Amino acid sequence: MKKSLAQAEHAVEILRAQRQDDYYPRFHLAAQAGWINDPNGLIYINGVYHAFYQHHPYDENWGPMHWAHATSHDLVHWQHQPIALVPGDDYDRDGCFSGCAVDDNGVLTLIYTGHIWLDKSADDDQVREVQCLAVSHDGVNFVKQGPVLAPPAGIQHFRDPKVWRTAGSWWMVVGAKENGLGQVRLYRSSDLRDWQFERIIAQAQNTAQGYMWECPDLFPLGEQQMLLFSPQGLAAQGYRNRNRFQSGYLLGHWQPGQNFTINQPFCELDAGHDFYAPQTFTAADGRRMLFAWMDMWESAMPCKAHGWAGALTLPRELTLDAQGKVLMNPARELSALRGEQQQFATLQCHNQQHILGDNLHELTLTVDLATSEAERYGVAIGQAARVYIDNQAHRLVLERFSSDPSLCGCRSVPLPEGDTLTLQIFVDRSSLEVFVNQGEACLTSRIYPADGDRQLSLFAEAGSAQFADIQAWELATIWS
Ligand code: FRU
Repeated sequence: MKKSLAQAEHAVEILRAQRQDDYYPRFHLAAQAGWINDPNGLIYINGVYHAFYQHHPYDENWGPMHWAHATSHDLVHWQHQPIALVPGDDYDRDGCFSGCAVDDNGVLTLIYTGHIWLDKSADDDQVREVQCLAVSHDGVNFVKQGPVLAPPAGIQHFRDPKVWRTAGSWWMVVGAKENGLGQVRLYRSSDLRDWQFERIIAQAQNTAQGYMWECPDLFPLGEQQMLLFSPQGLAAQGYRNRNRFQSGYLLGHWQPGQNFTINQPFCELDAGHDFYAPQTFTAADGRRMLFAWMDMWESAMPCKAHGWAGALTLPRELTLDAQGKVLMNPARELSALRGEQQQFATLQCHNQQHILGDNLHELTLTVDLATSEAERYGVAIGQAARVYIDNQAHRLVLERFSSDPSLCGCRSVPLPEGDTLTLQIFVDRSSLEVFVNQGEACLTSRIYPADGDRQLSLFAEAGSAQFADIQAWELATIWS
């Protein structure tokens, strides 16, 4: 039976009252309680940033998807808003799945996937997915308008619409699965209600490229276009594609009415354990920003025992450098969270650990790769994780430790060219985000330190290492 918005809100309140905060984020978006996954409907409209996210308000596990909602005036401080979308109509009976938001002449309009199971067994091959609309005139209360786009014959998995406006039309990319292969389909509309199929923008050529491409997004970046998506079914290759599912991009060129020509093959956007379903939006000043879900399907989530699960990454900015390299950096607005700056002297570490302190949430430093000859050296976060240069593998490694073996292990990226390496590291109660050389690489992982086990230190093993420009900050909470 269809449940109401009031029932959903009540369920969150009950869970909220029982929530434990050992792992609850201080400066990352998360639901007040219950489950969340993908960021949805990211938009700056009428002077306000909106972030929505897939949400199950009744418990800490994925279930019939609602859209939770938070707003901000500065992209840094956020306020929870009432749940925006509740499933239960014929076309979204089993979930309001992922989607986006657009500014339709000042009207905040959501385009999302109505999901239903065709049989009761939640069989993944027995689904029907249609794209639906909902509008809000006050930015808080939403009225559903029903489905506007059904899948073509032969396609069942058809979800996660991302809509934008260019060349006098609305355009929509949708993720789909056809004959066991993932694809991104492009549609066009003059009014957001009546949609025409344009073309397939990109598709897997074989099963190694994924059986389903979720959460597509197509947008200009520098002189190129980025097609961002989350393919399911990629095989692990050495250090790459290690997670259950991937998120990454193709770079190429696209113009209305033309094919997407690809000039850079699929590349993961973040090399950590927990980064999925990213979605972009345009900041007030035109920068291309992004949030992703900071978790991974089918991974252990110790925070479930505390009445909640799921968080978003920090807001990040995407740019293309002069060489055409994609850079991803934390939104510069985040510096507003910084407390007093702690500055440390240049440090040589020789077979030792040097403590920086407790209650430090952001750390920046420079590493001298040329003169550091230790086998491993870098930053430790209590006993919970380390970020270090592995001088033998010649890689920058994020390693996490846990009493749960499934939450242990490494992710890594090759060391960049050149003699110095800069790190910007954010440590929240249960997450670690590492930005390497001003965004050339990024690693995001959930970590679950025991209480008080988040002390930052620098270390060098089997040799010495040189660290300079060491600065650290305590960060304030984002919840106003
Ligand atoms: C991605 C995803 C989307 C879907 C949503 C359901 O994580 O599987 O494809 O819309 O989550 O919650």
